[in-house]
Amino acid sequence: MSTTHQPTKTILRLHLPTDPRWVNIAEKNIEDILVDHAYCEQKAATSAISLIVKYPDKTRLVEEMTNLVAEEWSHFERVLEQLKKRGFGLGRNRPDEYVVELAKHIRKGNKRERQLMDHLLVNALIEARSCERFKLLWKNIADEELQKFYYELMVSEAGHYVSFVKLAKEYMPAEEVDARLNELLEIEANIIKNLEPRPDRMH
Ligand SMILES: [Fe+2]
Ligand SMILES: [Fe+2]
Repeated sequence: MSTTHQPTKTILRLHLPTDPRWVNIAEKNIEDILVDHAYCEQKAATSAISLIVKYPDKTRLVEEMTNLVAEEWSHFERVLEQLKKRGFGLGRNRPDEYVVELAKHIRKGNKRERQLMDHLLVNALIEARSCERFKLLWKNIADEELQKFYYELMVSEAGHYVSFVKLAKEYMPAEEVDARLNELLEIEANIIKNLEPRPDRMH
């Protein structure tokens, strides 16, 4: 795998790496991790749909989110397939503390574009963190089929991270987007610092 592309090294700007203990506990709880992961993909798709519903006037956004829904839904299907292969069911959804905390930083108020920028950047960071975690799973997990699966998802989510940041720059000045991204990167690192690595969560 030495020649494979490692997008997390160059494009993700996460301030705090994941606690290395997480991947070991995750591998031992692969059923819980796959179930939680399935819901992450489902939420990624529904979040893209809600952006289309909220901003139908933003043509570029509608186009990009339409493509994203299809990709996230295919990820959801692929996780379901992995669950099925291992004799597991989808199981129940669990509250996603990480996403709930991060979403609190989407500023409300009159300025519609500013709110959209915050929403897109929060989504970008969720993609970035997921990508970082897929990389850990790809590199450390023993199951070869899952290694390949997580590698492919890592590449895909890295692309989504880039697209969300780019899209934010369609609607707000680039300097403002970069400044807000830096603030949110700091906030995201603090959220991760305060969350115990859990055996049953992707985040
Ligand atoms: Fe995905
Ligand atoms: Fe994604």
